[in-house]
Amino acid sequence: MSARACRVRFEPFGVEAVVPAGATVLEAARKSGIAIAAQCGGRGTCGQCAVRILEGAPAAIRPALGRAAALPKGMVLACLAEVSDGLVVKPVNATRSA
Ligand code: FES
Repeated sequence: MSARACRVRFEPFGVEAVVPAGATVLEAARKSGIAIAAQCGGRGTCGQCAVRILEGAPAAIRPALGRAAALPKGMVLACLAEVSDGLVVKPVNATRSA
């Protein structure tokens, strides 16, 4: 049985990724060619991968591997947030590769 697919959109790029349920927003971004800053490598401690939630909500938030970075309301860490179908996010520090 395959994992359910989730469609995630990254604004302002208008880029969508389809990834299996359980993937993180950071993994979805990488799959779709969106480079989100991630200095700590996904430990949840640097805060660089922060994304604003525009629509939907993450399916789950994984625990940080250290002291979790603090974020304003409405934002999550892409490396810890698991995708949900229809999620739309706007990364704070990101570029789109060609
Ligand atoms: S990559 Fe550092 S907090 Fe997500």
